[in-house]
Amino acid sequence: MGLSEEEGGKYWDKEAKSYNEEVEKHRNRYYELVECIIDLMNPKKTDVIMEIGAGTGAVSLLLAPKVKKIIAVDISKEMLRIAKEKAAKAGVDNIEFVRGTFHKPNIAEKVDIIVTIDSLHCTTNGNYKKRAIEIMHGYLKNEGKVFLEDEMIVYDQKILKRRVDQIVRYLVKLTRKSDKEFRDVLFEERPNIHDLKEFFDESMSYYIKGMAKTGHHLKLEDLVRYFEDSGFEVKETKRASSTNGIIYARKTKNA
Ligand SMILES: C[S@@+](CC[C@H](N)C(=O)[O-])C[C@H]1O[C@@H](n2cnc3c(N)ncnc32)[C@H](O)[C@@H]1O
Repeated sequence: MGLSEEEGGKYWDKEAKSYNEEVEKHRNRYYELVECIIDLMNPKKTDVIMEIGAGTGAVSLLLAPKVKKIIAVDISKEMLRIAKEKAAKAGVDNIEFVRGTFHKPNIAEKVDIIVTIDSLHCTTNGNYKKRAIEIMHGYLKNEGKVFLEDEMIVYDQKILKRRVDQIVRYLVKLTRKSDKEFRDVLFEERPNIHDLKEFFDESMSYYIKGMAKTGHHLKLEDLVRYFEDSGFEVKETKRASSTNGIIYARKTKNA
């Protein structure tokens, strides 16, 4: 889903309550994420963290005891209302909640660390995302760090090929049909393709290129390039799952 800021604000206001129910059901995911943030970013008690797209506060709430202050920024009033309520209930008093966006976080200070989880993919297109990363650079102190976890195309040719082999073997076994019969059905429109592997490879690459073109799902390499072009050094990238990736980047020079 790629939404403009105006559409996004309305959409997430409507979704906030049920989104928070999902967050509560998947608390373990957030514990794991925060563990990974702490391992990579090594936050200090004196640090100020800005979380952009903070949602109902799952990550901000877990990080708050580790640092001086968190500024939880989100486009949705309703998300922030729920996050505030959760912070009050948990007795966490070092989170500031700010209505803002990736392009206009509405904060008056520079921060040590920026965290953003599962949010940048919600924005319109590649240009919005690229600009968001340039803006992060401006809000960081020298050598400030960014931790970004999000849906992105973490395409790995070797893994894809292995999966394709497994699927083909499984399908043949399941239906007891010969490879030839499959070929007749699947390759009707693709006379130049000769085996199932080639067929899957081609289909997957169409799919992946198509997703990348929308700008909603960017490739890990594109995001890395945006960071590098904006004056960051990318210190580490990780696959978080088959659909999600992690980027840890550090500001290298003043904008
Ligand atoms: C999928 S939720 C993730 C929330 C939270 N980070 C989490 O992992 O639970 C996406 C969040 O991004 C926010 N968001 C969407 N577009 C935004 C934008 N342009 N600027 C700032 N926040 C935005 C939404 O309001 C929503 O809270």
